[in-house]
Amino acid sequence: MVFSLATERLLLDDLTLEDLASIQRIARDRNIMKYVLIWLENDEQVAAFLRHAIDASQREDRMDYQLAVRIPGTGAFAGLVFIEIDPDQISTAEVGCVLLPEYWKNGYASEILRALLAFGFDKLSLHRVYGKCDELNVASAHVLEKGGLAYEGTLREHVWLRDHWRSTRYYGMLAGEYTAGR
Ligand SMILES: CC(C)(COP(=O)(O)OP(=O)(O)OC[C@H]1O[C@@H](n2cnc3c(N)ncnc32)[C@H](O)[C@@H]1OP(=O)(O)O)[C@@H](O)C(=O)NCCC(=O)NCCS
Repeated sequence: MVFSLATERLLLDDLTLEDLASIQRIARDRNIMKYVLIWLENDEQVAAFLRHAIDASQREDRMDYQLAVRIPGTGAFAGLVFIEIDPDQISTAEVGCVLLPEYWKNGYASEILRALLAFGFDKLSLHRVYGKCDELNVASAHVLEKGGLAYEGTLREHVWLRDHWRSTRYYGMLAGEYTAGR
């Protein structure tokens, strides 16, 4: 069965093989990928990413939701999002979002984050949801802060990301904070 999560203006649902070209478009756009710590450096990596997403979606004990962002009505592909349970700490999951530039600055990422937090806490009964971003990624930090996640610290220059040492800012929300904020 296809997984689907509706936000106010968007649909988040399972990736399919038909999304390959859209993911390739994301992967080839340096402007989109500049701060993204997902390795989509060539067509093989894109294909492996999509295969992994589809395999994960078919598991009974699903831990990994790599989803397409679609515009209801047209079904147009607007980006990728994920909520991924940590296999070593199953009460925790990471969320993330990559949108095509024509959809930036419409409040979509904030809307998606709200939907993923609701899904993570209400449906998956998680204790902690976190997001992380390159410290140079002002847009992403804004989204996470606006979404009510607390800044937890920065892991300094822990990975070489294409053209710079990436320092990563961590943001998290606990189940009690989510409930209190409603
Ligand atoms: C990061 C990203 C998902 C943000 O998506 P978005 O839909 O444009 O974000 P929103 O419209 O919900 O914006 C949320 C807030 O951030 C602000 N913001 C968005 N982009 C910004 C930018 N480039 N610079 C400064 N602030 C920005 C918005 O103004 C808004 O704040 P406000 O409500 O106070 O005005 C999008 O820019 C993107 O896909 N970037 C490329 C991939 C990426 O870096 N993903 C994150 C990986 S960790």
